[in-house]
Amino acid sequence: MAIERTLSIIKPDAVAKNVIGQITSRFEAAGLKVVAAKLVQLSRAEAEQFYGVHRARPFFKDLVDFMLSGPVMIQVLEGEDAIAKNRDLMGATDPKKAAPGTIRADFADSIDANAVHGSDAPETAAAEVAFFFAGLNVYSR
Ligand code: PPS
Repeated sequence: MAIERTLSIIKPDAVAKNVIGQITSRFEAAGLKVVAAKLVQLSRAEAEQFYGVHRARPFFKDLVDFMLSGPVMIQVLEGEDAIAKNRDLMGATDPKKAAPGTIRADFADSIDANAVHGSDAPETAAAEVAFFFAGLNVYSR
């Protein structure tokens, strides 16, 4: 299996619940390393660009407004099969459908406030990492 990098965002609902550490512990316990991290308040322009692929979807404005509702913890996770591993740890988009023991099952309240984002494929992971951490590829752990 390949060593990959993926972008994780701990969303405003989970940051407000003070569970950044608990969520990050799950990444670490699964063998993923944090190789970059920043706690930031996104601008509307950043959120709209980041979620631009969903611009035509009915929930786009709600999604952007939610992502601006407080700070987010943005991390780059590195490890074997990191993209799929992170998605498995996250669970389904809708926490009502997320498997027991996943991050969304344990920390998310609704499909709008669903605790975490994770890149879904190698191409999006590369683009999302570059979006928030330009130049990171110089480093490794
Ligand atoms: S995914 O994770 O991309 O496969 O899921 P998808 O269903 O395509 O959803 C894309 C992102 O939109 C968010 N989402 C919503 N936000 C607000 N309201 C509703 N109804 C809703 N449905 C989906 C979902 O959490 C995805 O955000 P990210 O940050 O990528 O997980």
